[in-house]
Amino acid sequence: MTLAYWDDVAVYTTRDGVQLSGDSRVLLGRLPADSVDLIVTSPPFALLRQKSYGNEQQSDYVEWLGEFGKEAYRVLRRTGSFVLDLGGAYERGRPVRSLYNYRVLIDFCDRLGYCLAEEFFWYNPAKLPSPIEWVNKRKIRVKDAVNTLWWFSKGTCPKADVRNVLVPYSNRMKALLKNPGGFYTPKGRPSGHDISFGFGSDNGGAIPSNLLQIANTESNSHYLRTCKVLGEQSHPARYPVELPAFFIRFLTDPGDLVVDIFSGSNTTGYAAETNGRRWISMDVDRSYAVTSAVRFMENVPEDIILSVIERMGRGEVVNLKDIEQDSNLCLSI
Ligand SMILES: C[S@@+](CC[C@H](N)C(=O)[O-])C[C@H]1O[C@@H](n2cnc3c(N)ncnc32)[C@H](O)[C@@H]1O
Repeated sequence: MTLAYWDDVAVYTTRDGVQLSGDSRVLLGRLPADSVDLIVTSPPFALLRQKSYGNEQQSDYVEWLGEFGKEAYRVLRRTGSFVLDLGGAYERGRPVRSLYNYRVLIDFCDRLGYCLAEEFFWYNPAKLPSPIEWVNKRKIRVKDAVNTLWWFSKGTCPKADVRNVLVPYSNRMKALLKNPGGFYTPKGRPSGHDISFGFGSDNGGAIPSNLLQIANTESNSHYLRTCKVLGEQSHPARYPVELPAFFIRFLTDPGDLVVDIFSGSNTTGYAAETNGRRWISMDVDRSYAVTSAVRFMENVPEDIILSVIERMGRGEVVNLKDIEQDSNLCLSI
């Protein structure tokens, strides 16, 4: 698919990707079937408090998100995955949790045909306590610091390789690896799992669990600093780069195609680009799409970034690869 194909909806391009602006239900409809390796995204949640980037009512949410899920299923490859980040919510006026994120899970599997490959949980220790009424004022609920991340797949065997996302060994495991014989005697466990000496081989890291602890504390990134200096509004609901990066490394190979259908500040596109994957990002709000270009101009002087943003604001599709290259050339002269 050449850039010309997206000309009417493209905002900018990079070495490996394109940012589009428009309703992703429509944009997904322009992608061929079986062409995408991974969709990773965070839609507006079914929160009670209205957000500046819009959010659907809890009662309509499952049907609304299902429209995207249906198109996403069509474009995914047989080995493809769809990772959906959904934050929890309360019902209106009651300290009772909404089931909307679980209803989405059931709907996607029962009606749209997805398999639940595995459920993940994103623990953000930096999350502020909310809702104020139940947590801060009445003190009858604890802080909700975990989002559900549904890892859906189109088939039963999506592409996945845990070896790409190994985590550092614990100190105990490091000691065991140094001296397996001295550390413990292989024996059967009450659980029936037989722990042999094979357990003591160094695989370069430990297998991660489905609880991802990632603090959402970005405060001094190039994106935020530059938005502030230029007086541009940064996106108010970004997820941390490590989150999509984990699934991109886990579920795709270099050169594969990653799509975000609610891209906001294009955290996903940035994670894909820095990991050598191709990407397409989509957001209905053109100003978020324009400002997200800042992420790809890390070595570009602020006055040039501003002029690039103005050009995109006038509807020009800018190739950011050229902008980076020109700036590097100027800096090296
Ligand atoms: C929670 S934000 C995503 C933030 C993103 N993960 C980031 O790190 O910046 C959800 C985004 O979905 C976009 N959105 C809402 N409805 C949409 C639609 N129909 N098509 C495409 N984007 C949509 C909103 O404009 C908003 O930027």
